[in-house]
Amino acid sequence: MVWPDEAATLGFAAGLAVQPSISNAFIELRGDLGAGKTTLVRHLLRALGVSGRIKSPTYAVVEPYELPGLNVWHFDFYRFSDPREWEEAGFRDIFASSGLKLAEWPEKVAGHLPLADLVVQLTVVDDTARQVTLTAQTPLGVTLIDFFDSMLALSDKGPKANELDGTLMTQVTTLNGTRA
Ligand SMILES: Nc1ncnc2c1ncn2[C@@H]1O[C@H](COP(=O)(O)OP(=O)(O)OP(=O)(O)O)[C@@H](O)[C@H]1O
Ligand SMILES: [Mg+2]
Repeated sequence: MVWPDEAATLGFAAGLAVQPSISNAFIELRGDLGAGKTTLVRHLLRALGVSGRIKSPTYAVVEPYELPGLNVWHFDFYRFSDPREWEEAGFRDIFASSGLKLAEWPEKVAGHLPLADLVVQLTVVDDTARQVTLTAQTPLGVTLIDFFDSMLALSDKGPKANELDGTLMTQVTTLNGTRA
């Protein structure tokens, strides 16, 4: 699909945030420098209720977040170079524990990572538009994608369906409000 602007990126993040299975998902964010990986993660963390500063973990490699009933780890493996660091930093333990794991530049640590539930591939089209490919690699990933498929199906079914769509979006807003 194509996200014409950052509002569409935010909309996708909000759609992820309301899904129960997000709380134990591993999502890979792929794409070139500046494609929008961190931007998507920021919108997702905000939608989940993170209120403080959201740093890019480029230097720290990982930024953890503790939300009520939900642990989140945001990784950026761009600068990750020493494979021994994997064990020492406790990354194996993080991927084995429950919570949401988001990883930018997963290709830098390909041999270490478990299979991601969902791969989000971002490609720059122009200043604001991004081409997006979603790939589900597990049943949990399929569940996450199905949500967006059913939203698209609703919006394809004419004015009546747009009302339903409105209802869905309202639910998204309300849930986010509750969590924030
Ligand atoms: N539709 C869009 N979705 C996401 N970001 C967008 C969009 N349109 C414009 N942008 C802008 O593109 C930039 C993306 O930067 P971002 O840091 O998110 O990229 P990144 O993929 O994380 O890069 P890096 O590999 O360096 O970590 C931001 O300035 C953001 O505001
Ligand atoms: Mg980034």
